[in-house]
Amino acid sequence: MGKFQVMDHPLIQHKLTIIRNKNCGTKVFREVVDEITTLMAYDVARDMPLEDVEIETPIAKMTAKTLSGKKVAVVPILRAGIGMVDGILKLIPAAKVGHIGMYRDEETLEPHEYFVKLPADIEQRQVFVVDPMLATGGSAIMAIDALKKRGATNIKFVCLVSAPEGVKALREKHPDVDIYAAALDDHLNEDGYIVPGLGDAGDRLFGTK
Ligand code: URA
Repeated sequence: MGKFQVMDHPLIQHKLTIIRNKNCGTKVFREVVDEITTLMAYDVARDMPLEDVEIETPIAKMTAKTLSGKKVAVVPILRAGIGMVDGILKLIPAAKVGHIGMYRDEETLEPHEYFVKLPADIEQRQVFVVDPMLATGGSAIMAIDALKKRGATNIKFVCLVSAPEGVKALREKHPDVDIYAAALDDHLNEDGYIVPGLGDAGDRLFGTK
């Protein structure tokens, strides 16, 4: 079973409180989502493989560690996932970026896939799927289905706020996928919003509605 990790570092908790506040405007919301994602990426990348290189410091020769060059793909679930891409690219700038477009039927709350564009060698890449909200888990499950259908095997899911319902559903359907969240909230309401959550992440990121 993949792990479910709540990354509750004080800096992450502090910044999450800023964006949860309904008085936080679009500019700050966007900036702080970016900052939280970078803080999370630091630890999500913890098991990236290393290899030895021979170098010379000004003092001596040494065998040092360097990233083994395993390829990474960041895959935001459209549209809110876009807000988390740059935060990861700051630490892993050579990563390629795929996109998966999902929308939620506002009545049934069912997710639908409408766009998938991935790096051609997705099956060789460590894939970080990003979406700020893990609510019912429907979009995450469908996005990961879409990735696995195209050969991806090494997948991590990174979100900001999760609901117990979504974590359970995602772990049941994709037990091999590690899940990282900045918070585990209480429950989903009848409209499919996370409580207390932060509202509609896409609207808050892009200033729509
Ligand atoms: N999507 C959001 O943007 N917010 C929620 O609370 C749930 C799903």
